[in-house]
Amino acid sequence: MQKLFIKTYGCQMNVYDSERIADILSPMGYGLTENPDEADLAILNTCHIREKAEQKMYSDLGRLRDRRDERRQDKQDMIIAVGGCVAQAEGAEIMRQAPYVDIVFGPQAYHRLPEMIARAKRAKDAKEGKVGKGVGVVDTDFPLESKFDTLPQTEVSRAASFLTIQEGCDKFCTYCVVPYTRGAEFSRPAGDILEEAKHLARLGAKEITLLGQNVNAYHGAPILGDKEWGLARLIRAVADIDGIERIRYVTSHPSDMTQDLIEAHRDVPQLMPYLHLPVQAGSNRVLEAMNRKHTRESYLEILEQLRQVRPDIALSSDFIVGFPGESDKDFEQTLDLVRQVRYAQAYSFKYSIRPGTPAGLMELQVPEEVKSERLQQLQDVLNEHQLDFNKASVGKVMKVLIERKGRHVGNLSGRSPYMQSVTIEGNDRLLGQIIDVEIKSGHANGVRGSVKLVS
Ligand code: SAH
Ligand code: SF4
Ligand code: F3S
Repeated sequence: MQKLFIKTYGCQMNVYDSERIADILSPMGYGLTENPDEADLAILNTCHIREKAEQKMYSDLGRLRDRRDERRQDKQDMIIAVGGCVAQAEGAEIMRQAPYVDIVFGPQAYHRLPEMIARAKRAKDAKEGKVGKGVGVVDTDFPLESKFDTLPQTEVSRAASFLTIQEGCDKFCTYCVVPYTRGAEFSRPAGDILEEAKHLARLGAKEITLLGQNVNAYHGAPILGDKEWGLARLIRAVADIDGIERIRYVTSHPSDMTQDLIEAHRDVPQLMPYLHLPVQAGSNRVLEAMNRKHTRESYLEILEQLRQVRPDIALSSDFIVGFPGESDKDFEQTLDLVRQVRYAQAYSFKYSIRPGTPAGLMELQVPEEVKSERLQQLQDVLNEHQLDFNKASVGKVMKVLIERKGRHVGNLSGRSPYMQSVTIEGNDRLLGQIIDVEIKSGHANGVRGSVKLVS
């Protein structure tokens, strides 16, 4: 058995891709290892969303090269491959900067890895004894055939599974690289998705998170003359699958929150009362410069409708502070929006220039100190609300899907319907089960509770 090491950065779509990569390579005799020292094939599945992603990748690559040098002293070798969004954006440049890399592949080309590995091995054999450059394999195509058509079924079962249903993005927010690294929006056929969901359920999945960079823009082709599939219809169909008790979807864009989807939050009990709906900023001026295609008011209106159909829905968002031209007054409006919404959790970032995006060329870039100060201020408010939300759960009994062992011995960790991280003390046999937990205390990053015994 050969050993495969994969390090995954970035979003859940990369997590899904890394798992699929392991599935593709398993029939070739590659088994996963968590130890890069023993890897015969090491893959970095990279993310390009924020600054310094390239530097981090190059330093990780340098470390892999050192490990390979050590292995070579024992007459062993290592294939080094770079995938994901940095690979897509940088392509052959990676081979120039790090000529010891064997393979560079984009997120839409990884189904061709077996062939790439064979080519890399031939190239290595050919240059045996010689120091050569430019023998690496680069595939950053957006191929005509879809990777999804050739991926084998997974054999790995997880109680909470991810399922990619849509990729790419046509929104072109002015700060973002995703439309360039993941390409144009593309929805998988509903039939294929439902087959994969059924397969995951058979393997023991109780929760499925439908994934896409712009998941609520999902539009599956009609099956045999029937009408087009939207996300709401897909959710209803997944809810009908035996064994699927929980459904989530991420990440959504406010302008694709259709009425049908909002109503699914009312009608589909399996759809969890939690929604990550990024707003990015609270000022319409900034939203326009970001090309977000929604306003503060239209965003708040959607939340209002969601709360009407599902009063307990927990909300989450992404924020960017210090977008070019953001004034103190603009930033105040972000704080004001946050105070109005009271998010259960949120992610916030300082704006950073992504090469090739329009915002990188805008004037009035905000100084670093101002960005840091604003981020701190925003996070203080967000953290306070998150803590309040977690404390308000105390005394409630919630259904918790126990996903993994906790950090301390005897602890288990899972998620509440509201996506809170829940820690309990309990026996390992509870892993993968949905159990009633009474929440005892609320903290900054989650809640603690105890198993509610049936009386
Ligand atoms: N498709 C998703 C997620 C995109 S990336 C969406 O539309 O929401 C995840 C988050 O990273 C974004 O929501 C944004 O808040 C942040 N982000 C993206 N580009 C950024 C940049 N150049 N600087 C800072 N944050 C950025
Ligand atoms: Fe990026 Fe905007 Fe597309 Fe999200 S919607 S992936 S932030 S361009
Ligand atoms: Fe990062 Fe690519 Fe995901 S840039 S956030 S890994 S889509």
